[in-house]
Amino acid sequence: MVTPNTPSSYELPSNFLWGFATASFQIEGSTDAGGRGKSIWDDFSKIPGKTLDGRDGDVATDSYNRWQEDLDLLVSYGVKSYRFSLAWSRIIPLGGRDDPISEEGIKFYSDFIDALLAKGITPFVTLYHWDLPQTLHDRYLGWLNKTEIVQDYVRYARVCFERFGDRVKHWLTMNEPWCISILGYGRGVFAPGRSSDRLRSPEGDSSTEPWIAGHSVILSHAYAVRAYREEFKQKQGGEIGVTLNGDWAMPYDDSPANIEAAQHALDVAIGWFADPIYLGSYPAYMKEMLGDRLPSFTEEEWSVVKGSSDFYGMNTYTTNLCKAGGEDEFQGNVEYTFTRPDGTQLGTQAHCAWLQDYPEGFRDLLNYLYKRYRKPIYVTENGFAVKDEDKKPVEEALHDDDRVQYYRGVTDSLIKAVNEDGVDVRAYFAWSLLDNFEWADGYVTRFGVTYVDYKTQKRYAKDSGNFIAKWFQDHVQQE
Ligand code: NOJ
Repeated sequence: MVTPNTPSSYELPSNFLWGFATASFQIEGSTDAGGRGKSIWDDFSKIPGKTLDGRDGDVATDSYNRWQEDLDLLVSYGVKSYRFSLAWSRIIPLGGRDDPISEEGIKFYSDFIDALLAKGITPFVTLYHWDLPQTLHDRYLGWLNKTEIVQDYVRYARVCFERFGDRVKHWLTMNEPWCISILGYGRGVFAPGRSSDRLRSPEGDSSTEPWIAGHSVILSHAYAVRAYREEFKQKQGGEIGVTLNGDWAMPYDDSPANIEAAQHALDVAIGWFADPIYLGSYPAYMKEMLGDRLPSFTEEEWSVVKGSSDFYGMNTYTTNLCKAGGEDEFQGNVEYTFTRPDGTQLGTQAHCAWLQDYPEGFRDLLNYLYKRYRKPIYVTENGFAVKDEDKKPVEEALHDDDRVQYYRGVTDSLIKAVNEDGVDVRAYFAWSLLDNFEWADGYVTRFGVTYVDYKTQKRYAKDSGNFIAKWFQDHVQQE
């Protein structure tokens, strides 16, 4: 267990944005209200066996109806900013470029944005957090059809810039392209659930589809950014970028093979998207691993993709120890473990198998990304799910010591990366404001800094929420 020793003179600049993050499908519920069209997650979560206990997003945390309450909660924590996503199918129910816009959907988000601003909270808006309009999947298989999806996505993005861009100055095009592609079209565990594994999915080809989907996501992002820069940026004065998932990859030991394996892990999990977007090329290992299954960009496309993000949006949760070996088709020749060579665990185990608490990795990752991509970093997600929290009575769950410990560690790493290493970090959003629909894991895994009693929909601040609020209030310079 780490005991952070943050020097008392360390600070974050007064314009540092901090707050909490959520996503439309995970919190809104009311999937039939306000003229909303269906998304791929509506249908997917209803297929038996796809989510834990067969849970879905029909109600979630009921934030479509309780947004005032969520706002009050944000105010009570004293946040400077709130990251949330727009549901494409609330804004354009059928999703496509010739389909009608729902004024009701626009009004819902517009009112929410106004209410945030009235409380002095800066909206940080994600355009796409996985809830693709179902119609686009039915029409042409969504992200698998580059020509169609790029045009439909850019139109959707333009509508958002037009309607909200006078007030929204921070845009994220896509949330976690790796998850969209690999989990949705490779492993088949997320919507739309395509995979070569016929026990999982009747349709799909894991050897090609994830890489095609990723390609469409990059292009859709890049063309939307071009539209923003050419048509809106000057007038609206905002900034736009992508947010990528990526955990720190640490060599299992200092053998050259394991050092190389850790770099390969970063190349596939992060470099697949970040290298084209920030550096204008693919990592060599991606090409080696995939050969001609890695779709190529035309020269024109490269010119749109390269440089298409104003900042580095970083979602990160853990650190993996990496060993050479293994044949995972999406990871390459890398195996992940949390067990050190001496048999000890890297850190405290979370409720989900893929997450342990190792705050030093957070600092190493910040340094790696800053050195490689040279962009200001926005930490757009970071969080911890306490083991068996769902089994505890609320009074007990509120004292979420493991989560407090996690945030104590990462905030110490964050401020040291800024003050000692000179990394330009400009925002930090903890995942999540609320316990919510954790995708295929349903409602058992809780990531919230606020406890949600799903029977009453009552919200209760956990110790971690109060810890974060106080920590940032203490460490961000006064304006
Ligand atoms: C990343 C995703 O963006 C978010 O939707 C998810 O709930 C968290 N990670 C936790 O798994």
